[in-house]
Amino acid sequence: MSKVTVVGAGNVGATCANVLAHMDFINEIVLIDIKGDLAVGKALDTWQQAPIDFYSTKVRGTEDYKDTKGSDVVVITAGIPRKPGMTRDDLIATNAQIVSGVTKNVVKHSKNAIIIIVSNPLDVMTYAALKVSGFPSNKVFGMAGILDTARYRAFLSTELGVSPKDIQAVLMGGHGDTMVPLPRYTTVAGIPVTEMIDKDKLNAIVDRTKDGGGELVRLMGTSAWYAPGAAAAQMVEAILKDERRVFPCCIMLDGEYGLKDICLGVPAVLGKNGVEKIIELDLNKKELELVQKSAKAVSEVIEVFKNMKV
Ligand code: NAI
Ligand code: 2OP
Repeated sequence: MSKVTVVGAGNVGATCANVLAHMDFINEIVLIDIKGDLAVGKALDTWQQAPIDFYSTKVRGTEDYKDTKGSDVVVITAGIPRKPGMTRDDLIATNAQIVSGVTKNVVKHSKNAIIIIVSNPLDVMTYAALKVSGFPSNKVFGMAGILDTARYRAFLSTELGVSPKDIQAVLMGGHGDTMVPLPRYTTVAGIPVTEMIDKDKLNAIVDRTKDGGGELVRLMGTSAWYAPGAAAAQMVEAILKDERRVFPCCIMLDGEYGLKDICLGVPAVLGKNGVEKIIELDLNKKELELVQKSAKAVSEVIEVFKNMKV
């Protein structure tokens, strides 16, 4: 038996619940939102899709945390998204309160859950949820790297005229303008990407990836949801099926890459215990500098959170 709760029935949360329902292996998905009718409505809509798309996953909407009791995995998407002109960091004042409150409610009813944070600013909200939960760091971590890497892979796919399925890549650092796509660890069906694309085009793709979230906010007036919802669902699947998939995840570091007391995107193995292992890449000097610069930017926002005394 497996039970998943998705907190926040907005664009990302509802998409995540819908993708998970389609995977057809989870017994029960609970969608919870302060707007209870919205959660009930979107859950009902997803359930009514079941006879068409042929799955049996029960999906239930609620505003009562009692219904989340005993969840194996909880995905937190509650909070406001950014509007054009805003950075993810501009969301901290509102979302730190929301994510902290939600986390308290989640842990009260699901003491053994693994918690995946999606709300922005992602790295800092992951840090906040980890501290508030009192859980070990293998059980509270964030989704951003799968999304950012997917954007990078999608752009490369278009440029090279090859299937996105065949592009493998790693991206590290914070979920912001300082994120670090790693061309040295990018391949096209095992072929180093640098053998297939010239430097200027690759640099342009790296820059577009860093602005990938912003590009969509400018197009839509709010942030993305299809790829983010699917990315969070992929993490849930890896955990519940104990797949030991390797994904970039936002995780509390304890000396890895020379960093401590910070949640940052690093490659990791995901399985039934959540983060099974953090992979330490043998970064060169330039790559390490970029990761450290990104860590510095995230640490500054973590300090803002600490001073908020939520
Ligand atoms: P949305 O506005 O569509 O949905 C957010 C939902 O959260 C709303 O339905 C709202 O009622 C609910 N909510 C607010 N306070 C709540 C509370 N205390 N308890 C329960 N529910 C509550 O926003 P969207 O587009 O779904 O984005 C959600 C968050 O995810 C934003 O912070 C956004 O920046 C972030 N995001 C993060 C990504 C990542 O890669 N980590 C990617 C995309 C979005
Ligand atoms: C994104 O990257 C806004 O974090 C969100 O789409």
